[in-house]
Amino acid sequence: MYHGAEAVVAAIGSFIIVTVILAAIILIFKLRKQTQTRRNNQIRTRAFRNTNPNSSNSLPVDASWSWDPNLKISMEELTRATNNFSSHLIVGDGSFGLVYKAHLSTGVTVAVKKLSPDAFQGFREFAAEMETLSKLRHHNIVKILGYWASGPERLLVYEFIEKGNLDQWLHEPSSPTHQNDDVSTDLIPSPLSWETRVNVIRGVAHGLCYLHGLEKPIIHRDIKASNVLLDSNFEAHIADFGLARRMDKSHSHVSTQFAGTIGYMPPEYRDGSNVANPKVDVYSFGVLMMETVSGHRPNLSVKLDGVDIGLVNWARMMKERNTEVEMLDVNIPREEALKEESVGEYVRIACMCTGELQKDRPEMSEVVKLLDSMSL
Ligand SMILES: Nc1ncnc2c1ncn2[C@@H]1O[C@H](COP(=O)(O)OP(=O)(O)OP(=O)(O)O)[C@@H](O)[C@H]1O
Ligand SMILES: *[C@@H]1O[C@H](CO)[C@@H](O)[C@H](O)[C@H]1NC(C)=O
Ligand SMILES: *[C@@H]1O[C@H](CO)[C@@H](O)[C@H](O)[C@H]1NC(C)=O
Ligand SMILES: *[C@@H]1O[C@H](CO)[C@@H](O)[C@H](O)[C@H]1NC(C)=O
Repeated sequence: MYHGAEAVVAAIGSFIIVTVILAAIILIFKLRKQTQTRRNNQIRTRAFRNTNPNSSNSLPVDASWSWDPNLKISMEELTRATNNFSSHLIVGDGSFGLVYKAHLSTGVTVAVKKLSPDAFQGFREFAAEMETLSKLRHHNIVKILGYWASGPERLLVYEFIEKGNLDQWLHEPSSPTHQNDDVSTDLIPSPLSWETRVNVIRGVAHGLCYLHGLEKPIIHRDIKASNVLLDSNFEAHIADFGLARRMDKSHSHVSTQFAGTIGYMPPEYRDGSNVANPKVDVYSFGVLMMETVSGHRPNLSVKLDGVDIGLVNWARMMKERNTEVEMLDVNIPREEALKEESVGEYVRIACMCTGELQKDRPEMSEVVKLLDSMSL
């Protein structure tokens, strides 16, 4: 009886001790994790907030630059041209800030991107970066016309690309290009034809090939349908290049949280290895090809035989089964005589681009050759 009680006390005692030890271990782990994330956050803050106006590398200067001297870009002019940054003139909301449609007094229509004030570094870095980007000239790259910097304020002025982004054209085929009044309200007449889609993809390939082929290659890092803008002739113009790279310089593992969009990111993003490689763009480009042919968003599930396999594996399966034509977006007008072998070749190129390993993926220059020699 007495012994029994002793045993119970001992049991309870040891139970309590074990629980306390376990709790202590868990607590230590949690604390460690917290300090770790806090440390990461600090890195991020330091990397992106170098805007102390008194620090030597960010002199408090107002500065503007424009490619065309007739385009006098100033804060007053841009404020006026955007009706005081009126919400009615917003044409896009990107991760770096809002994009406005603006009519300059010279009669030119431009796109003005107002960067979020806390997202960018000092003035000198900004100016240097803009100088590099403004030298780029390619038909399939959105042209930077100028910038304005003042204190923490950073405005980028781009040529205005009329027909909005490819994402809208693929996924909202009967909605206005932009929902607001001044901004073009013509309805998108019909879904993009197969020929137009291939042409858009070719344009993106040429633009990327140009960026990768520069003496100092530029990796876009965020190739996706909403960064492909279409002009009045449905020619593709790549937007947002260079911005992701700016962030990269500060800290590569931080940048992986920012650059890249779910669904387009290559497998190596998961372990953060070797992401500063043009082959990350090749992968995203392959995903964009699959999205463009099928009208499927890359971040949504694709079911085959009841199993969710995702867009990339789906394309691979369809290629293996020689049923690539079944991938075609049902919205593609079918009156055109569609060559099955061109769809097959297209899907084959997309599958090459989305190879698991970087070394399995072709260079963009090779992709351009393959796409250009594809018969329609
Ligand atoms: N030069 C331009 N001409 C016309 N519209 C533009 C222009 N630049 C951007 N836009 C519109 O603004 C939208 C947002 O552009 P932005 O590139 O900043 O962001 P995003 O592509 O949506 O996202 P992220 O910043 O993550 O790349 C674009 O999708 C497009 O519809
Ligand atoms: C910058 O310098 C000015 C005058 O030299 C001072 O008034 C101001 O407080 C300083 N600002 C910061 C952020 O240090
Ligand atoms: C623009 O906005 C600012 C502040 O939001 C305001 O002070 C100014 O009067 C406005 N100007 C015009 C022309 O609307
Ligand atoms: C997929 O991406 C689109 C466009 O980027 C976004 O609007 C949508 O919310 C995403 N859906 C999911 C499930 O993540």
